[in-house]
Amino acid sequence: MITQVLPASPESFALASDLLRKGQLVAFPTETVYGLGADALNESAVRAIFEAKGRPADNPLIVHIADRSQLSPLCEMSDVSCRLMDAFWPGPLTMLFPKKPAVPAVVTAGLPTVAIRMPSHPDAAALLRVCGLPIAAPSANRSGRPSPTTAAHVLEDMDRRIPLILDGGPCEVGVESTVLDLTHGEPTILRPGGITRNMLESVLGTPVRLADSILRPLGKDEKALSPGMRYQHYAPEAVLTLVEGPEDRVLALMRKKCSEALSMGKKACVLCFSEHCALLSDCFPHDIGSLSRPEETARRLFRVLRKLDEEGMEVVFTEVLPPEEIGLAVMNRLGRAAAFRTLRADQE
Ligand code: TXA
Ligand code: MG
Repeated sequence: MITQVLPASPESFALASDLLRKGQLVAFPTETVYGLGADALNESAVRAIFEAKGRPADNPLIVHIADRSQLSPLCEMSDVSCRLMDAFWPGPLTMLFPKKPAVPAVVTAGLPTVAIRMPSHPDAAALLRVCGLPIAAPSANRSGRPSPTTAAHVLEDMDRRIPLILDGGPCEVGVESTVLDLTHGEPTILRPGGITRNMLESVLGTPVRLADSILRPLGKDEKALSPGMRYQHYAPEAVLTLVEGPEDRVLALMRKKCSEALSMGKKACVLCFSEHCALLSDCFPHDIGSLSRPEETARRLFRVLRKLDEEGMEVVFTEVLPPEEIGLAVMNRLGRAAAFRTLRADQE
């Protein structure tokens, strides 16, 4: 199969819409990451997503819609979910709802809940409107690779596996949507993203819980609230280590550790804030954005992680962000990429 990459336009939306109606897969940009879409109500189309990604069948998908009128055949709504829709849709918030029978079990991996979001990216919204279907779409990477934030990343992973990639340029948020469970009592963030806990709490006026395993590995016998949390997601070829502590000590320790690795003949580098790149110039610094703009780090994160593999890095040390607001989403992804391996600079 030949994979076409077309700029988003009325013509490419029409072509994409035809393909989706025929049960084929189309990758498209969203404000978070690129998605790999199929008609959510077509069981065999949805199976093709799992196949193209190499995704385990027990990891459910998010259904994307353009309009709230699409919800009632898919799920049960509550007052709380409607308030959050008013505040945050369209945008990077996915909510879990009790599912209705029209949603095939393959979409939800057999769970009684369905995850739904309304993306704000104009190209995603246009595609969803033109095709008029609810679209099941995971991130458009091969399973185990970082999520794609450009059409070129999608092509790296999906070339010859899907007929069409719509190119809408780089994604604005850069990390996947916040996944919020409203179906098990207290609202619980299963995956942190662009809509933060504070933003949710300020609308709800009640506490929002964070799932336990957001900043640590799941215990061996621990049950994941969200199947996606069981998987390591992305493990770089390199041994990645988080370095925490007071800034000057972090920089000194990263330089020391990286130099040791380099002197042993390893391919080694550091991930650091823009402000620190010059200080670490002998450690092949990879710029993760300004210290004062965590949303920039979110936007760059997956691109930088892909680069580590391209460069064949073996040993990597990274600075960390305070796990607050969008920084929590970054530390969740970066932490898991590092298997939460951490050095504390004030204890070394
Ligand atoms: O930003 C995003 O959410 C992107 C774009 C394309 O919309 N999509 C995305 O999908 O990140 P995916 O499949 O890579 O991640 C979906 C996450 C997984 O961790 C999955 O386990 C969880 O949502 N999930 C989906 N349905 C669920 C359900 N019914 N119950 C619990 N977790 C669910
Ligand atoms: Mg994914």
